[in-house]
Amino acid sequence: MGERYTPVARAFHWTTAALVLTMVPLGLALSELRQGRIQDFGYDLHRSIGVVLFPLVVARLLYRLSHPAPPLPATMPAWQQRAAMTVHGALYLLLLLNPLVGWWGTSAYGAPITVFWLFALPPLVAKNQGLGEAILYWHGWTGLSLATLIAAHIGAALQHHLIQRDGILRRMWP
Ligand code: HEM
Ligand code: HEM
Repeated sequence: MGERYTPVARAFHWTTAALVLTMVPLGLALSELRQGRIQDFGYDLHRSIGVVLFPLVVARLLYRLSHPAPPLPATMPAWQQRAAMTVHGALYLLLLLNPLVGWWGTSAYGAPITVFWLFALPPLVAKNQGLGEAILYWHGWTGLSLATLIAAHIGAALQHHLIQRDGILRRMWP
């Protein structure tokens, strides 16, 4: 078995994964819930986790700059290495973009953003409910694009593990 990701990189990966895998179904469930305390709780939880995710991803990327990924096995075709890099880059981009779009849209909509019921974040823009609804509509789509990429990413990880058996999954396994 070759080199693995560092324990810190693996901790970042699996914490991010657990949070994002909570966020997508939670986000989708929100608009289906009846208005009331449970829906409010869901919104607060969704926003709070999103607000924690953003600095987590920033910290992860800063760490990544000084700790490059272990080199991929030379047996892996160049197009696959490029595909993996492209998907990882797009995942990072959407992980940064989606919380910001959520914050932006929620600000415009005029809803508060309390972080785990402890403190509130300031709105990014002045209230304009119509604009807020439009931004949150796009937030849903960027969220679903992220989910689609994640599905492809998980498919690739399983393909490496079960079919190619090349140890790629073990590089990141906790
Ligand atoms: C929300 C879910 C997830 C996100 C956002 C995510 C994101 C990422 C990112 C950005 C990388 C690139 C790391 C780097 O080189 O900087 C990565 C690597 C990796 N991920 Fe995920 N991941 C998720 C879930 C999963 C799951 C469920 C699995 C396993 C079934 C998995 C397996 C892997 C593996 C094996 C690598 C290392 C690939 C390599 O060796 O270069 N990921 N992931
Ligand atoms: C990585 C972080 C995030 C992900 C993956 C994510 C994902 C999603 C998804 C998939 C939806 C469902 C959209 C739909 O039903 O069409 C949603 C809804 C929503 N998100 Fe996020 N979200 C994130 C962060 C945030 C943040 C930080 C905020 C606010 C501060 C936020 C505010 C909202 C709101 C208000 C809705 C409901 C929109 C509606 O009811 O139409 N999200 N999110």
